[in-house]
Amino acid sequence: MIRVGIAGIGFMGMTHYLAYQKIRGVKVTALCEQDPKRLAGDWRSIKGNFGPQGQMMDLSGIRRYAELDEMVADPDLDLIDICLPPAAHPGATIAALRGGKHVFCEKPISLNPADATRMVQTAAKAERLLMIGHVLPFFPEYQFAYQAITSGKYGQLLGGHFKRVISDPLWLPDFYNPAKVGGPMLDLHVHDAHFIRVVFGMPKAVQSIGTMRGEVVERFTTQFLYDPPRMVTATSGVIAQQGRPFTHAYEIYLEKATLLFDYMALPKLGDAVTPLTVLTSDGKAMRPKLPGGDPTVAFVAELGEVVRSVRNNKPSPLLAGELARDAVVLCQKQTESVRKSRAVKV
Ligand SMILES: NC(=O)c1ccc[n+]([C@@H]2O[C@H](COP(=O)([O-])OP(=O)(O)OC[C@H]3O[C@@H](n4cnc5c(N)ncnc54)[C@H](O)[C@@H]3O)[C@@H](O)[C@H]2O)c1
Repeated sequence: MIRVGIAGIGFMGMTHYLAYQKIRGVKVTALCEQDPKRLAGDWRSIKGNFGPQGQMMDLSGIRRYAELDEMVADPDLDLIDICLPPAAHPGATIAALRGGKHVFCEKPISLNPADATRMVQTAAKAERLLMIGHVLPFFPEYQFAYQAITSGKYGQLLGGHFKRVISDPLWLPDFYNPAKVGGPMLDLHVHDAHFIRVVFGMPKAVQSIGTMRGEVVERFTTQFLYDPPRMVTATSGVIAQQGRPFTHAYEIYLEKATLLFDYMALPKLGDAVTPLTVLTSDGKAMRPKLPGGDPTVAFVAELGEVVRSVRNNKPSPLLAGELARDAVVLCQKQTESVRKSRAVKV
């Protein structure tokens, strides 16, 4: 049995806690949270943009800590799952690794590449696993695309366009703070940056146009520059009106297939979805059957991979700290490109 301690019982801490209940061979045996009400089991104040509303929880039998250092010192834990705000990721991760624990940390790995490098190096030195919560490849539509690309079934990968746009998250006061969250680039687009890194590799340069809000990019479109024939673009940021709080989508071009997917949350009208669609070079169009639209399914798949990795003491390639670091590098280069209004080498 893998024993997990979760640090930070907010939207993601709760999402992970509930997902672990659905995975065999793992048990949440400790929690760390600075808010005494949440630590006592009153999760009613927890809010997010999907999944269930927080409830009163029976946490009896779970060891509870107000300070991370105390949980790190708990000898009966194999894995610490860090769901703290992004600015706390490097310090918490390094403390847990040095304390001899494997670490799974939510995205983004850090707010800058230098911290990410320190985290990766600490894991190597401590001979512990460091995995970062890039959940996108575990969403069924993105998992399908990942398999379709890496299997070679549809030939060479030619390019793609990725979209992730939200309305202003008015309830998140730190969202545009570069020292706390990092704005749409590091909170939102980092998911696509990671996916692009995984399937296309690192580009030679990025060319972005966009607008700034204070110190962070508010919305942007980027061209990722690869050797031909690869053409990759992404659009992300905050611009949509409140009536459409979230959308994510892709078009991926392979030699023998085009993959299409578009999901748009429209609470007042009902969500608008183009389900994953595969157009093949023989003129056919298919809609592969995928698990339904509940996003918590992706977290169960992602954490299942984390548990397997810890059990086998073998890092998960998709959740590797190095890839998460590269995603932060791509975010940083795109910000630089918006600021300088020119292409920036990667
Ligand atoms: N993968 C995804 O789709 C996804 C979605 C949302 C958030 N996230 C990521 O998850 C992380 C957490 O985001 P969230 O939305 O759950 O935040 P949140 O604010 O809802 O929760 C953070 C919790 O950590 C607690 N906390 C803060 N500092 C602490 C400390 N020093 N010691 C103990 N507890 C502390 C807070 O009291 C709060 O309960 C972020 O990195 C975010 O980017 C990922």
